[in-house]
Amino acid sequence: MNSDAEKIYQLLDDSLQDGSFRKAILSRPVQKSAESPTRIDARPVMIKDQLKFQLTYRTGTQETHRNFDAAETAEELQKSAGTVFRDVLLQTATEEWMARYNRKGTCSLKKTPRASDDAGVPPDHNRSRQYLIPDGTACPFLIATGIMSKNGHVVAKHSRKFRQINRYVEFIRDVVDQLPAEGPIRVIDFGCGNSYLTFAAHYFLTQILQREVAITGLDRRPDVVATCNRIVADLNLAGISFEVGDIAGYQSDQQVHLAISLHACDTATDDALASAVAWQANVIFAVPCCQHELAAILEKDQQPLFSKHGILHEKFASLATDAIRANLLSSVGYDTQVVEFIDMEHTAKNLLIRAIRRRKPITPQDLQDNLTQRLGFSKQLGVPSLRLQQKLDEFGLLPTKPTQFANDAPTM
Ligand SMILES: C[S@@+](CC[C@H](N)C(=O)[O-])C[C@H]1O[C@@H](n2cnc3c(N)ncnc32)[C@H](O)[C@@H]1O
Repeated sequence: MNSDAEKIYQLLDDSLQDGSFRKAILSRPVQKSAESPTRIDARPVMIKDQLKFQLTYRTGTQETHRNFDAAETAEELQKSAGTVFRDVLLQTATEEWMARYNRKGTCSLKKTPRASDDAGVPPDHNRSRQYLIPDGTACPFLIATGIMSKNGHVVAKHSRKFRQINRYVEFIRDVVDQLPAEGPIRVIDFGCGNSYLTFAAHYFLTQILQREVAITGLDRRPDVVATCNRIVADLNLAGISFEVGDIAGYQSDQQVHLAISLHACDTATDDALASAVAWQANVIFAVPCCQHELAAILEKDQQPLFSKHGILHEKFASLATDAIRANLLSSVGYDTQVVEFIDMEHTAKNLLIRAIRRRKPITPQDLQDNLTQRLGFSKQLGVPSLRLQQKLDEFGLLPTKPTQFANDAPTM
């Protein structure tokens, strides 16, 4: 090994260890065949608050991603430099180095100065937002859906959608430790529609986290299901498929780990939630939409301040429905939060019910408190049990009601 080859090895090692590494590109392959890789891109990424390095391997039109720690990244890049690829570009916080290997394997190294970006600040904590699915790296489903151009850059008019997709993926990242650590992660996306987000979940879990998945997208519209399955075939994706069906009647004898229902209309959300609870899904994400059930039965004189104004009546009924849903999920074993979700183009609804299955059963006291609050609220509204409760009761999933509430209960 000549001294320039030793130096680029050293520079890779040092920059990966001291936090100044920004990116590396290995290109100009030694072998040119359809099966051999054409390029490797390396960049720092934060995964679960840990610094990792993501290597993107390109072979023809296929891309695979693998995440490594600093030492493994150095080893992975060094073993290909000069043997698999003739060019190695290394960018650090302050410098750019280009190593070129000739046919005999002799390396010549040149340095190009570059303006310091954020020296001293850990990589990927710099001023620009670092996305889990980055701009600048070709992502097949984003290219297929027109959000990215073929060279991996986000098309300007879709930058909002790109940010939304990344935000959504962050929601999934935040619950990954609630999903099985080994084996396939089973996901059902109820009312998947055009499935940008379903494909994003697949990409994140399989390409970034390197997990095996079995994702089913369900929608009652045959046209959207056909389009989604065509994308699966075109991109040769494994572990994802789409089915035509109604959420209410959907059956699965497989354990589902992550159940998603985003903007499914009215009580379809309740059907999705009830199925997810019946499967004991580890995590449930639901963004309710068009909650008409309660608005239709809530007597106008029950909440006159709201009911005087149609829009307030609707909003009050929606919020009340979601509060009851959150209470019910808590009662059947889920830590439940209602948080702000991403803004979608097709709806202003952006409240996410995020429910994570508790490792321990609910305490009798908490169960009783939940029941007191729910029954008190229903009584105040003068309404009977809503769809989710009916389904949970039907499936025998709701813990028995303490008898002392029987007299207070509205029609249940
Ligand atoms: C507004 S789109 C949302 C699509 C996607 N989940 C998203 O948030 O981008 C709602 C989708 O849910 C589907 N849907 C609504 N009710 C359904 C039901 N009961 N069974 C199956 N699909 C349903 C609709 O066909 C539609 O494609």
